[in-house]
Amino acid sequence: MKISFIGAGKMTHAFCEGLSHTDFFNDHQVTISNTSLGKLEELKSLYSITVTQNNVECIEQADLIVLAIKPQQLYSVVQEIKSSIKENTIVISLAAGITLSQCERWLNHKRIIRLMPNTAIARNSGAIACTTLNCTQEEIDTVIDLFQPLGNIYVIDEAKMNAYIAANGSGIAFVYELIRVFTKQAIEFGLDESIAQSVVQNAFSAASQMVDDTTDIQLLIDQVTSKAGTTIEGINVLRHSELESILHRTFDATIHRAEEISQSYEGLE
Ligand SMILES: NC(=O)c1ccc[n+]([C@@H]2O[C@H](COP(=O)([O-])OP(=O)(O)OC[C@H]3O[C@@H](n4cnc5c(N)ncnc54)[C@H](OP(=O)(O)O)[C@@H]3O)[C@@H](O)[C@H]2O)c1
Repeated sequence: MKISFIGAGKMTHAFCEGLSHTDFFNDHQVTISNTSLGKLEELKSLYSITVTQNNVECIEQADLIVLAIKPQQLYSVVQEIKSSIKENTIVISLAAGITLSQCERWLNHKRIIRLMPNTAIARNSGAIACTTLNCTQEEIDTVIDLFQPLGNIYVIDEAKMNAYIAANGSGIAFVYELIRVFTKQAIEFGLDESIAQSVVQNAFSAASQMVDDTTDIQLLIDQVTSKAGTTIEGINVLRHSELESILHRTFDATIHRAEEISQSYEGLE
C-alpha cells in the first residue's frame, strides 16, 4: 500500500517508532510531509520513508492518508489536498474533537476513520480508539491489521470518543501527573530523589501489571490492606478526600474542550 502521513510531529514519530518494530516500512511505501524540514530529515534518517514539504505530492496515489496535524491545522490542509485524493483512499484523522461528519464535509470524501492513539504506541503498548464512516468491514480490518502491532484497538461509537480521549488519549498524561505528584510526596517524606523515582515507577508499573490479571480493583486493594494497618489509613484519606471530584473535573474539562474544538469549526463547509 501507499501510505501517507501529513504532519511529522509527536504522533507521527510515535507511529513510526512503533511500526519500525514490524515489517511496516518493508511492506508499504510510506511518504511523510511536514511544514518544516528538520522533523522530516530526522524521520528519514531513522526509517525507510520518502519525505516532502508538499502535502499534495505526499498524498498523490495514496491508498491510506493519515492526517497527523493539529485540529486547528486540519481545515486548511484539507482544502489543499482534497481534490487530489483518490475515491477509494481511506482518510484517517487523528485530530481530537473534529468529528467524522466534519471531516466528510470538508474533504467531500466518503471513507473516513478517526483514530485516537496514545503516545505509548511508540513502545507497541499503546491503545487506539477507532470510529469510522462509510468504510466496509474489509477496509476497517485493513486499518486494524496495519496498526494492531501498536497496541489494543477499540472500535467505538463516535459519541463515546471524547470520553475515550479523557480516559486514554489525554488520560495517559493524567497518569504521568499522578506519578509526578507521588514522586514529589516520596521526596518530601524523606526518600532520595533517585530512589523516589524508582520506587514510584515500580508502584505504578506493578499495579498496572496486577490489573492485567483482574478487573476486581477492590480485591487488589484488599490484598494490600489489613485491619488497623498502614494502607487502610492512606486509603481512608483518599476515599474521604476530593480525589473523585478532582478526577471528575479533569475528565469534564477534557471532554468539554473536545466539544468546544468541534463546535468552533461547525460553520465551515
Ligand atoms: N500527542 C498526542 O498524545 C496525541 C494523542 C491523540 C491524538 N493526537 C492528535 O494527533 C494530531 C497530531 O498531534 P501531535 O501531537 O503529533 O502534534 P504536533 O507534534 O504539533 O505535530 C503536528 C505537525 O504538523 C505539522 N504541520 C502543521 N501545519 C502543517 C501543514 N499545513 N502541512 C503539513 N504539516 C503541518 C507541524 O509542523 P511544524 O512543527 O514544522 O510546523 C508539526 O510537525 C493532533 O490532531 C492531535 O489532536 C495527539
